[in-house]
Amino acid sequence: MAGQTDHPLRGDYSNIRPDYTVDQDYSLYSPEEQDLWKRLYARQSAQMPTYACEEFTDVLATLNFGAGIPHFDEVNEKLTKATRWTLVAVPGLLPDDVFFEHLANRRFPTSVWIRRPDEFDYIVEPDIFHDFFGHVPLLFHPVFADYLEAYGKGGVKAKGLNALDYLARLYWYTVEFGLIDTPKGLRTYGAGILSSAGELPYCINSPKPNRVRFDLMRVMQSNYKIDTFQETYFVIDSFDQLFEATAPDFTPYYESLRVLPSLAANQVIPADHLVKV
Ligand code: PHE
Ligand code: CO
Repeated sequence: MAGQTDHPLRGDYSNIRPDYTVDQDYSLYSPEEQDLWKRLYARQSAQMPTYACEEFTDVLATLNFGAGIPHFDEVNEKLTKATRWTLVAVPGLLPDDVFFEHLANRRFPTSVWIRRPDEFDYIVEPDIFHDFFGHVPLLFHPVFADYLEAYGKGGVKAKGLNALDYLARLYWYTVEFGLIDTPKGLRTYGAGILSSAGELPYCINSPKPNRVRFDLMRVMQSNYKIDTFQETYFVIDSFDQLFEATAPDFTPYYESLRVLPSLAANQVIPADHLVKV
C-alpha cells in the first residue's frame, strides 16, 4: 500500500538513503520469521486457483517464493528482464512524493520486515509478505507494469494539483482491492486481497459488499475504509481497459471532482452497474 499514515511507522528508518531505500540484510531474518513466511505462503497459495486472476497465478507458479523469504536480488534478475521493473528495499511506508518517484521510474518499494506471528491473520501496515506476495507477480505483466508506472507519474502531477486524495482512491480500488471479470468468474488482482486470507473468499463469495463495474470518476469519488473488509469493490474487464481509462490527462477530471460530492464506502448510486454473484 502507499502513502502516509497517521500513526507511528513501524519500520527502522534510521539508515535510509535520501530516496528512502535500504539494503535487504538477509541475515537478519530469524528461523521463526522464515517459518512464518512459509506458513503465510502455504495458506495463501492454496487459495490462488479459486480467487486470483490467471495473470497472477501463472507468474506466482514460476517464482518459487514458497521456500523462504525471497531475496530481492534474485527476483530482480527475472523482473528486470521481464518488464524492466526492479524491487527496492524500504523500511515501510514512504512519503507520497518519494513513493510516486519510485513508481514513475519502475522501482517498486518493498518493505523488508515481516509481521509478528500474532499478526498471522491481519496486519494494518504493509510488510514483506503483503508487498511480495501481493504485488510482485503482477509487476511481470506488461500492461499492469505500464499502468503502475503511469500511476507514479500521475501521482507527481496530482500532488502539484492538490488532487492526491482522488488519485489515492484509484490506487486503493485497483492495485490494492481490484476485482476482474474473467471467463472463470470474478477473480481478484488486488494485492491487499491477495495477501489476506479472509478477504479472498469474502470479496468473491460474500453477498455483503457491492461489486460495481469500473468507472474512473466513480472510483475517484469514493471513500474507502482501511480497517475492515471493503464494502465496495470495482470490477474491471481487463488490464487493457484499466490502462486505457486512465490514459487521459486527469487535470480536468480533478476539476470536476472538486465540485462532485464524495461517496461513502458503502454507497450505491443509480448510475452503478452492479455485478451479481
Ligand atoms: N493519466 C493520468 C494523469 O494524467 C495519470 C495516471 C495514469 C493516473 C494511470 C493513474 C493511473 O494524471
Ligand atoms: Co500494497
